[in-house]
Amino acid sequence: MLTLSTVQFAPIFGDKSVNIKRIHSYIESIKSDIIVFPELCTTGYFFQTQEEAISASEPFSGETITALQHTATARNQIYVVGFAELGTDGKVYNSAALIMPDAKLSSVYRKTHLFYKERNCFAEGDTGFFVVEDSERDIRIGMMICYDWRFPESSRTLGLQGADIIVCPANLVTDVWHIVMPARALENKVYLAVANRTGTETGGGEELIFKGESAIWGYNGKIMAKSAPDEESILTVTIDPAQTRNKSFNTFNDIFADRRPELYKNIIV
Ligand code: ACM
Repeated sequence: MLTLSTVQFAPIFGDKSVNIKRIHSYIESIKSDIIVFPELCTTGYFFQTQEEAISASEPFSGETITALQHTATARNQIYVVGFAELGTDGKVYNSAALIMPDAKLSSVYRKTHLFYKERNCFAEGDTGFFVVEDSERDIRIGMMICYDWRFPESSRTLGLQGADIIVCPANLVTDVWHIVMPARALENKVYLAVANRTGTETGGGEELIFKGESAIWGYNGKIMAKSAPDEESILTVTIDPAQTRNKSFNTFNDIFADRRPELYKNIIV
């Protein structure tokens, strides 16, 4: 059994040092094994140009993630943190750092499906979806970021790779995703945790309102905890990752073994 928390708050656009201090102070107050923070929570979201995103970005090996790595190791916790990542290729990615107590397992996921004006600022993610196994804690974690939810291939890929839990840092500006997330949990028999943000940001004469309602679903698709739309909020639940691994739900049916990829016309293989 492990404890899992999501943190919902309103990062301040352009005030990285305040946002990072806030992330560290949440960590100090939360004892959970896994803490999931929102997308781009170190910088804020609504970049207008690539130059602007690059100037706020830093490498996975940079000071923000390195400091969180020290804390993760010292406190024996797992963190998932959305940040603007400067790649060694000079491109900036909308990424999520998975920071494990054992630094060798720490890794970075780069958002696959870019949303709206992100295309003007970020490069398309090139890591693909992957699962990190922590054998000491007996958990397998997969990441997706926000708009990735609209593609069932994202969670399916993670499910088929053996994820017990999908964590999803988000900056969601609609609420339709609440229709879909329980299905993604149920059809893959995985836990699913969305850490969304609140607040508003303006840019280019446009206002974005972030919708909060962070939530955690169990592997049966049932909601375990949910934040309100516009509150600073920490959700905490207990999960049992091993319960997700037997994909059969009666003596005849197994949701992965019953798949017929040969009939899916190479859409999902
Ligand atoms: C989103 O992908 N930030 C909606």
